[in-house]
Amino acid sequence: MERIESRWELKRRIDYLKSTGKVVGLVPTMGSLHDGHVSLIKIAKEHCDVVVCSIYINPTQFNDQQDFEKYPKNLHFDLEILENVGCDFAFTPSAEEIYPEGIENTEYEIGSIGEVMEGKFRKGHFNGVIQIVKRLFDLVNPDVAVFGMKDFQQLAIIYWMIDYFKYNIKIIGAPIFRESDGLAMSSRNNRLNNKERKIAINLSKTLFFIRDNYKNIPLSNLIITAKERLKSVDELTLEYLEIADTTNLQKVSEIDSAKSAGVFIAAKVGKVRLIDNVVLF
Ligand code: PAJ
Repeated sequence: MERIESRWELKRRIDYLKSTGKVVGLVPTMGSLHDGHVSLIKIAKEHCDVVVCSIYINPTQFNDQQDFEKYPKNLHFDLEILENVGCDFAFTPSAEEIYPEGIENTEYEIGSIGEVMEGKFRKGHFNGVIQIVKRLFDLVNPDVAVFGMKDFQQLAIIYWMIDYFKYNIKIIGAPIFRESDGLAMSSRNNRLNNKERKIAINLSKTLFFIRDNYKNIPLSNLIITAKERLKSVDELTLEYLEIADTTNLQKVSEIDSAKSAGVFIAAKVGKVRLIDNVVLF
């Protein structure tokens, strides 16, 4: 595997590979890699001849400066992981390489899909995600890009981008990778202490409780019960727990009238903000 820091070097290498007919895949990440990220690389490898994994902690998508500063960094270990899984290129640019003209301030009109849940609680977050993903798509010009369903709304925004900017890129959504006790893998889990790590299980437990009961218990009752349970957990602050249509992410209040639905949660455990979701149908 090769590590590339220069955007021009990356472009030169990818342009050459594409000119020889190779199918190029991109897996964008912010590093501190875990098995969830590894599963994305493996999926990309199945669909592509060459896989690029980018590692860049994008400042423009953080609405909370502390979260940005405390975001875990583990480059040495990340490169080893990428080497072992057989990734071809690790693109590890500096901020100057990504934003040579300074931090971007373009604002995109995403519409209702970007206004709910993460869009509501993390103002400007998706705008930052679009800035960086657009930058990466333009630099790498991939045929395929893989994103995790762990960030379900982000994945929906990526589909929106493909449509809006008319990219000819095949997007693959990868299933959520979980720890054996159900906690969704996340780079932020590294910031949990032992006690918080145990408390964090309540997120996936709540989602599984709703998944296992939504056919028998009316949604409003189910949500009230789940929220009450979460309220009683010390050091856990719920931001939202919602059942939403998986196609437009708008709230679903009656299960019978929905064509598709998922349950979405965001909560702070101590100072660490975690998200998770389960697709119901
Ligand atoms: P990051 O949080 O590092 O995640 C990189 C990719 O890994 C995302 O597509 C995310 O959905 C996926 N992922 C994370 N945890 C996962 C899990 N447990 N199972 C499956 N996939 C998982 O998402 C970002 O970075 C950034 O917003 C980025 C797209 C790189 C733009 O900066």
